[in-house]
Amino acid sequence: MTAAVIAIDGPSGSGKGTLAEALARRLGWRLLDSGALYRSVALAAAQRKVGFDDEAGLADIARQLGIEFRPGDAGIAVRLDGQDVTLQIRAESVSANASRVAALWAVRKALLERQRGFRCEPGLVADGRDMGTVVFPDAQLKVFLEASPEERAARRHKQLIDKGLGGSLRGLLVGIRERDERDRQRVESPLVPAQDAVVIDSTALGIDAVEQRVWQLIEARGLS
Ligand code: DC
Repeated sequence: MTAAVIAIDGPSGSGKGTLAEALARRLGWRLLDSGALYRSVALAAAQRKVGFDDEAGLADIARQLGIEFRPGDAGIAVRLDGQDVTLQIRAESVSANASRVAALWAVRKALLERQRGFRCEPGLVADGRDMGTVVFPDAQLKVFLEASPEERAARRHKQLIDKGLGGSLRGLLVGIRERDERDRQRVESPLVPAQDAVVIDSTALGIDAVEQRVWQLIEARGLS
């Protein structure tokens, strides 16, 4: 028997990261923030001056990169070849580059087995875009979290300010729309709900209400 997986997919700012973290903590399960992997590849590529059109070079980075996730008091810290990049990978420039990197087949292939390697007992909560469709198609529960672009831009704006990073709300909305378009239209693992995913729109729901809905699903499936 392989360990249980809960897949939480959705666009940036839909609240999936916060939800996945809360569920992993509550269940005592491992957490995979797959977006942080794509962000780390984008950051490393910029640092190493590998072009965003150099698919083979980017796939090499994805294969070799020393990415570590360490649970800490303020959430999970991300280290890239020993360097703490937890805040750096959240910058808007990295978000835009991560979306470009994520559209490349060779990069996605290089990260696939890495992501599957996170699966362990007693279970894994995995958040991303294709957790339920491609990486863990046999997940015991698949949730697809939606929210309007305006609401997502407002949430991202608040997140960035709380982290001491700047960004204009209008600029964030434009960026979100562009990335949405790229993530949904791409040929490789586009952002779409799995056929057996439960779709939840969080535009008008607080994160607590979303967590409560998902917790009911977890209990109903005997995963808690
Ligand atoms: O979830 P996030 O905003 O941290 O993701 C950053 C980028 O990586 C985003 O453009 C989508 C992409 N991504 C992906 O294509 N597949 C995943 N499983 C996770 C993220």
